[in-house]
Amino acid sequence: MKLLKTITIFFSFLLSVYNVSSQQENRYLPLLHNAYNRPATLLNGNWKFVIDPYETGYRNHRNWTPFDQAESTKESAKPYYTDKQMKNRWDRIEYNFELSDEIAVPGDWNSQKEKLQYYEGSLWYRTKFDNELQEDKRLILYFGAANYQTDVYLNGVKVGQHLGGYDPFNFDITQLLKSKDNSLVVRVDNRREKNRVPNLTTDWWNYGGITRSVKLIEVPKTYIQDYAIQLDKDTPDSVKGYLQLGGDLKTQKVTIEIPEVKIKIEGMTNSEGNYEFDFSAKKLKKWYPKRPKLYDVTITSGTDKITDQIGFRTIEAKGDDILLNGKSIFLRGISLHEENPLRKGRAHSIEDATMLFGWAKELNCNFVRLAHYPHNENMPRLADQLGLLLWEEIPVYWGIDYENPVAFNQAKSQLETLVHRDKNRASVIVWSVANETPEVESRLIFLKKLKDIALAIDDTRFISAALERDEKSTANTVKIPDPFAVDVDMLACNEYIGWYSGLPARCSEVTWDLPSDKPFFVSEFGGGALYNYHGDKLTRWTEDYQKYLYEEQIKMLKKIPTLRGMTPWILADFRSPRRNLPIIQDGWNRKGLISDGGFKKDAFHVLKAYYDEMEKKYTYKVDN
Ligand code: GCU
Repeated sequence: MKLLKTITIFFSFLLSVYNVSSQQENRYLPLLHNAYNRPATLLNGNWKFVIDPYETGYRNHRNWTPFDQAESTKESAKPYYTDKQMKNRWDRIEYNFELSDEIAVPGDWNSQKEKLQYYEGSLWYRTKFDNELQEDKRLILYFGAANYQTDVYLNGVKVGQHLGGYDPFNFDITQLLKSKDNSLVVRVDNRREKNRVPNLTTDWWNYGGITRSVKLIEVPKTYIQDYAIQLDKDTPDSVKGYLQLGGDLKTQKVTIEIPEVKIKIEGMTNSEGNYEFDFSAKKLKKWYPKRPKLYDVTITSGTDKITDQIGFRTIEAKGDDILLNGKSIFLRGISLHEENPLRKGRAHSIEDATMLFGWAKELNCNFVRLAHYPHNENMPRLADQLGLLLWEEIPVYWGIDYENPVAFNQAKSQLETLVHRDKNRASVIVWSVANETPEVESRLIFLKKLKDIALAIDDTRFISAALERDEKSTANTVKIPDPFAVDVDMLACNEYIGWYSGLPARCSEVTWDLPSDKPFFVSEFGGGALYNYHGDKLTRWTEDYQKYLYEEQIKMLKKIPTLRGMTPWILADFRSPRRNLPIIQDGWNRKGLISDGGFKKDAFHVLKAYYDEMEKKYTYKVDN
């Protein structure tokens, strides 16, 4: 009897494992490169939604197991992803997407519904679509981003799961498709958790939801999954690259063409679907901020074709200089969050990008720090066209769980996706792996591994991180003792002298003690001001104080011989649950040079005047 019981238990275990694998079979695909330019069916629009703070539709309430990891629950009405409708008058179903409210995709949920402004938890989305897929095609379901854990189901079957709040991801849904009335159910959970990246606290709003576009992309069974085409870091008069096929890999004839300059490279992929190439760059005009030249590049395989718009430039640090195409430049920058302050929500559209970069251009910037996480792809694509250089980063921010491999894997995944997505964007010159992180051994190991991961994908750009000055000492000499300082190409630090450390007059009391063989960059300085609040220059929160602070900061920074740029904090006021001073903050960080109403504060003009001066000082001639 005992033996029979053991055998029964063993086989039910096997069945449950099978069920998990069949339901959980992750249809996760390597990121489709340049999805941006692929013809697609946008699933954007109003989706039905159900708020589910107790995860009623996701977990068994008794043992807390996710339904999609339990025994077959296909017939059960409990999991919301089965999208059940009442058939008989006696059916008991305690949700109904058809009868539920709607919410726009893309878009964070916090800024769309008053009752969701501070919501942190799980929320279900549902949309329906038809799709007649031809036999020789594969259908990719592509998400620009969703914050933070995303579980995707199609017609009641688990498609896969993504962890990460700001990076694109995609799935192959070919096998699950019906020609009519597909039910796509997506669960998004934006809770802050210790092993997530970022984790328990940030100085920005934890916008949840499907924050960027969702689209269906038809590709051939064998398609162009990835490619890199950039000037070779070591031999800048040649272009080096690779092409990777995805799907049913085959050796196929491939071509890379730049018709404008009659460049055409042909070759065969190997059995893994990979082809490496290089060609002379002599005919190519370089990309410069002042002349952001982009070329149409067409990549063709035996069964697929895609076009891209690519600029060619070099970036290097030489001693304390930053050289763009060999010319010494100064990074006249500003930091910004991915937020449209007028709409008071996550930015996601080309219109949002145009507004934010328009403000940066008015400031006479040639550089923007996309803080503190990967932004939507409109930003690097538009920056390529506008001639804005970019600092991009992942949210390894403050106290990450540096000893936890789960946290490391999420940082790794987000960094790999960011570098892969933007490795062909001329505007991007910095990959940053951290912001204000503690100088402990586990964090140093964590960051060094991230640096190697970024360089393994793309070694043509700077590695940096927003380090910190020696907060401990109150002496008047400022150093950056961070052990990661030797690992970065551009030494960057956040410093708030005059705001968090002393008053603005303190700027004139300190001297900086920095290495002479590396460009120095101030990744943050600034202070808060409520627009149109005026007083004397020592009344905190007035525009007058902020203006005085900028004047004193610029006087101090001008004295640093290795200074090669800055991204003051920050372009526009932004929402933060940490900022609760009534009348002045009311849930907003007020360090913007532009108010949440879109009005420029006095300090804006102080910084612009300095940038006009630096533009003259660092003029260069655009060659060919
Ligand atoms: C920090 C941090 C920012 C934050 C800023 C501030 O340096 O990097 O994310 O918003 O300071 O305190 O306003």
